[in-house]
Amino acid sequence: MRYETPSLTRWNARAYDSSFGYVSAHGAPLVELLDPRPGERVLDLGCGTGVLTADIARRGAHVLGIDGSHSMIEQAIAHHPGLDFTVGDGYDFTVAQPYDAVFSNAALHWMSRDPDAVIGCVREALRPGGRFVAEMGGAGNCAALTAAVFTAWREYGLREPELPWYFPSPAEYALRLEKGGFTVRLLEYFDRPTPLDECPNGAADWVRMFAGSLLDRVPPAAVEPLLRRVNELAAPALRRETGWMADYVRLRFAAERR
Ligand code: BEZ
Repeated sequence: MRYETPSLTRWNARAYDSSFGYVSAHGAPLVELLDPRPGERVLDLGCGTGVLTADIARRGAHVLGIDGSHSMIEQAIAHHPGLDFTVGDGYDFTVAQPYDAVFSNAALHWMSRDPDAVIGCVREALRPGGRFVAEMGGAGNCAALTAAVFTAWREYGLREPELPWYFPSPAEYALRLEKGGFTVRLLEYFDRPTPLDECPNGAADWVRMFAGSLLDRVPPAAVEPLLRRVNELAAPALRRETGWMADYVRLRFAAERR
């Protein structure tokens, strides 16, 4: 495998794993869909701290986890010492030997710059008939969260920020897969309201955690009041008696390399 400049995102690996363990917890059905078999070679693209990589390995597959974030890979290696992990570029990776499957959970939407390049790398990494099984944010993902961000930014006289994610419709992504040399075998598109259990400060915490780059151009003195305003704006849609809920929408698919 060739390793290029990591560029997936800017995560805080520790917070991702402890406060946002739901990324891993919600991945279990996707591992079921992958149905890894003993001895199969599986590549986990955007593996984060490796929780699902380890689930796949427990089923007897030989799995390599790759992620663009050095800190994620450091944590993955520390938590799962027997497994293989490496830093890799989702837009530009190659493998020495083809894989039976490429798996990806909650990572493809971060590879927003060139989704076709990602699909092309996945295709090249698979043997003919190999499967690409993944879940990502779909069209409308985080709509209430991002609407609150846009409104708050405008109210503070700031330019609306560019969002770092790619949330395609099912039709758009299916077309990319088909054009990229895959046959789509299953495609699901569904709402998955997700409790932000460990975000006592709700949408504001979510922005800091997942959309920290949006704050880069915000004058430091404005950050706190701006995020308070995001919370006010997002609360009617996302705050429940039991806590905050993110308005996640998922695109889940299984495709086969032709
Ligand atoms: C998601 O999993 O849908 C997601 C997580 C963080 C930021 C944006 C989307």
